Parts: sequence; structure tokens; C-alpha cells
Amino acid sequence: MPTPITVSIINHKGGVNKTTANLHIGAGLAKLGKRVLVVDLDTQMNLTHSLIGDLPEDEPCVSDVMIKNQIPLHNIIRPTSVPNMDIAPSSESMVDLEINLHAAINREHRLKIALAHPELKKYDFIIIDNGPHIGNAALNSLMASQFYLVPVSAEYLPLVGLTHLTRTIAQIKPFNPTLQNIGYLLTMVDRREGISSEIEAVLRETFKDEVFANIVRINTKFKACPQKRQTIFDIEGPTGKGYTDYLNVSKEFLERVEKAHAKN
Ligand SMILES: Nc1ncnc2c1ncn2[C@@H]1O[C@H](COP(=O)(O)OP(=O)(O)O)[C@@H](O)[C@H]1O
Ligand SMILES: [Mg+2]
Repeated sequence: MPTPITVSIINHKGGVNKTTANLHIGAGLAKLGKRVLVVDLDTQMNLTHSLIGDLPEDEPCVSDVMIKNQIPLHNIIRPTSVPNMDIAPSSESMVDLEINLHAAINREHRLKIALAHPELKKYDFIIIDNGPHIGNAALNSLMASQFYLVPVSAEYLPLVGLTHLTRTIAQIKPFNPTLQNIGYLLTMVDRREGISSEIEAVLRETFKDEVFANIVRINTKFKACPQKRQTIFDIEGPTGKGYTDYLNVSKEFLERVEKAHAKN
């Protein structure tokens, strides 16, 4: 398998657990012995905030790497409290990324070029967190990725939104033919609620085995993670709901990546 394997976490909708999935699949893979880099491409900086706190605006972040083309990405990487997992953080200057990339040469490939640096070969996985807006930042993410993962909240199923995402991906594919869906991940599932089961049924009927077999159950403990700069693996023990869910999702993620590579 060629490494690093790069994965975009993407969905046009906010609040569907993109950042939480990024953080916990990253930490889950690290727990399973993989070396992981997470990249924060969201102007909201939630992933950065959850792992290392807010970066001072004058510290270079991933947008400076992409805009200026002079700072190698490994110069901005920071360790996190999760063993085996580092972060390429975002800061306030991320807000300028869209404007500054607008007229830049090779603007969709800036992240791909930055991630190709030999210093990053030590990572098994690079997982990129995206905001809900598909602009230059998300295009860079998808152009740099072999896989994308779509978290879908079991509270509300925006099937129209998912159709839009499929259309966006279809537009990108001619320019990145290796891009594949690693799966739809159902999050915030509450099986006592009829709506949760209905959404799960529709999603599985529509997307078949593109949907992860494992799901993430609703669990208020996740809300405490960002402020404590901890993951659910620190907050809960191995029998905890969130701990079990994300460890299972991370194992399935590895199986799905291996299966995709075996097919190609
Ligand atoms: N399994 C879960 N159950 C309940 N709330 C969750 C769960 N996972 C994450 N959350 C919370 O849901 C909110 C939105 O999640 P987030 O990952 O920030 O979404 P996005 O990045 O897609 O906007 C956050 O407050 C987060 O703590
Ligand atoms: Mg987010």
C-alpha cells in the first residue's frame, strides 16, 4: 500500500461530526499503531482547538504553507497529546485562504504539493478536516486525497446534500481519478428514536455497502472533548460507548482501505 494514505473528511453540512470523526478516527488509527497526521483546513479551527488550543495568528499554519509556497509543511506540524498523532494546524489566517488562492497559479494543487514532501513519508495516514463550504480549501483537500469519508448525522438526512456532494466528486474525478469514497459514516445514532432508524434504513438502502457497518451512537461525553483537549479514548474506558464505537469504526476504516487497495 502506498503511504501516506490521504483521506478527506467531507460533507456540505455543518454539525454532522466531521471534526469529531477526524479526531477520533485519527486517534483510533494511532491506537492501532499507525502514524497519523491530521490537517485542519476549516476556518472554524475546531480540530486545532480540540488538540492543541488556539494558535497565535502570527504563527504560520497550513494556509500560510498553501499561500506562500515557501514554508515546507513539516515546519508547521506540531505533536499532540495523542501518541503517534501530529497536527498541521489552522489559525485565524485560514480566513484569508479562499481570497489568496483565488488567483493563485496551480491553486487546487497547493496542498497536494505540500503533502508530497519526503518528510511526510513517515506517516501512514493523513486525514484532512474540512468546513461545510466546498471552495478552494476543500478542492485542495479532495485533489490531494485517495479517499474521502462522509459523516452523516442520524438526526437529519440531507439526501439532496449528499447528491450535491456526489456531483462535486464527479467534477473532481477527471483530475484525480484515484479518488474513492471510503464510506458514509452514520453518527449520533439513537436507536430509541424512530428517526434514527429511518435514516439508517434509507442510507443503507441508497448507498448499500458504501455505508460503514459500524455506527457512532449519540453520546454527550463527546461535547467535553474539545475543552479538555482530550479524546473519547481518554475520557472513557475501553467498555465506554464512544470508545468502543470509534475503535470499531477505525478498525473498519483500515479494512475498507485494504479492500479498496486489493481491488485496484
Ligand atoms: N456521538 C456524538 N453524540 C453527540 N454529540 C456528538 C457526538 N459526536 C460529536 N458530537 C458533538 O456534535 C457537535 C458537532 O460535531 P462536529 O464534529 O463539530 O461537527 P462538524 O465538524 O461536522 O461541524 C459537537 O458539539 C460535538 O461535540
Ligand atoms: Mg468541523
